[in-house]
Amino acid sequence: MSNIYDQVFENNKRWIETHKASNPNFFEHLAKGQSPDFLFISCADSRVPVNNIMGLEPGEVFVHRNVANLVVNTDVNIHSVILYAIEHLKVKHVVVCGHYNCGGVAAAMGNQSLGLIDGWLREIRDVYRLHASELDAIENEGARYNRLIELNVHEQCNNILKTEYFQKSHASGGGPSVHGWVFDISKGALIDLDFDYQAQISKLKSIYDING
Ligand code: CO
Repeated sequence: MSNIYDQVFENNKRWIETHKASNPNFFEHLAKGQSPDFLFISCADSRVPVNNIMGLEPGEVFVHRNVANLVVNTDVNIHSVILYAIEHLKVKHVVVCGHYNCGGVAAAMGNQSLGLIDGWLREIRDVYRLHASELDAIENEGARYNRLIELNVHEQCNNILKTEYFQKSHASGGGPSVHGWVFDISKGALIDLDFDYQAQISKLKSIYDING
């Protein structure tokens, strides 16, 4: 095969054949609709292949990706995705998944301007400021970098809990649960950060509760 561009279409043909071999009606069934249990919010990084690392098939995970897996209040795009996933798809789990070796987080820890993206990455600097005492106490730079990646996931999970539509769904008993994970690229491993969303709802309530 001459180049990777053409290769992709060859790969696609084989992928179709593989699925049809195990289930001849796989794609006809898939076209009828989706009812994924997961909404997965991750970094756009090419080393985080969502379905592969979760072992899930098409139709099983609803996905939103951006630089450094941020849930930004004014981002109509991501809030449209989350609201749709909660209210219409009724997903059981919302996962914010960061990853070690995240270039977005590394850039936010540095001083170099990247143009337009500086404003986006400032969200991560805000996470640093919220947790500066913990982070500044970590002497090893690599460990501090990894911890900021984890804390960024934690705060993006919080950002979901702050929304009116999440609170409304939660108050009505509709869920979903919210999870913070990190993907360790060097091991291929998904790590559950044990984000306790129920406890966090209580912690955030006095300031962010908007459903009375
Ligand atoms: Co990243």
